[in-house]
Amino acid sequence: MIPKLIVANWKMAIDLDAVRVFEREWNGGPAVTTADVVVAPPAVFLHHAAVLGGVSLCGQDVSIHSMGAHTGEVSAAMLKALGCRYGIVGHSERRSGHSETNALIAEKASRLETEGLRPIICVGESLLERQSGGAESLIATQVTESCSGLSTAPIIAYEPVWAIGSGESASPDDVVVMHRHIKRTLDRAFAADVPVLYGGSVNPENCTQFTAHPEVNGLLVGGASLNARQFWKLCTSVGGER
Ligand code: PGA
Repeated sequence: MIPKLIVANWKMAIDLDAVRVFEREWNGGPAVTTADVVVAPPAVFLHHAAVLGGVSLCGQDVSIHSMGAHTGEVSAAMLKALGCRYGIVGHSERRSGHSETNALIAEKASRLETEGLRPIICVGESLLERQSGGAESLIATQVTESCSGLSTAPIIAYEPVWAIGSGESASPDDVVVMHRHIKRTLDRAFAADVPVLYGGSVNPENCTQFTAHPEVNGLLVGGASLNARQFWKLCTSVGGER
């Protein structure tokens, strides 16, 4: 069985003390052997997260610029220099809070690809879009436009906006339907298959309802990834051998 990819997105929801507690608890426990684990800390804590055992590092966002006079921005090369293998782009909090378009997200994804980092491109519909029956066409547009210009397969994270941080995850059936739709949309776009993760109110209790399906290649976890014990429990309950 191919191991599932479990990505922790710490957002800006953690302080330095909590990062240190996470490190102590994570490194004090047994290694996760049943999943590939990735942590996306705030950029300023990347060097702290680098000590986490058995974990790959990920940026939460990246600049569209390669370098230069861009105050406050973090380039793909900087993420790489700090050990990142992945970078998240197009999270709904960036799409809505920073008016990020699919075209801009595609540029960011290309920056990551150029530096040899694998983009994790987030897509997701709002509740209104789902209720109006427009979710599938919206997701197809998001996926196609956000991947344009990439020459190697990225990772897609399907995160319905209404499920993020709400405590109300999407139903596993709806997730499987959307993951199939995303895979179909990108069929033949790249030489390799595109893994699709689910994100939105995933926790140790509900995670296997999603990962039990072969269409779900892993999870993007926000709130439930901030506590090492809880996140470890989630990672170890997801089946699969390395
Ligand atoms: P959540 O966040 O697990 O807290 O819902 C997921 C995400 O935004 O990536």
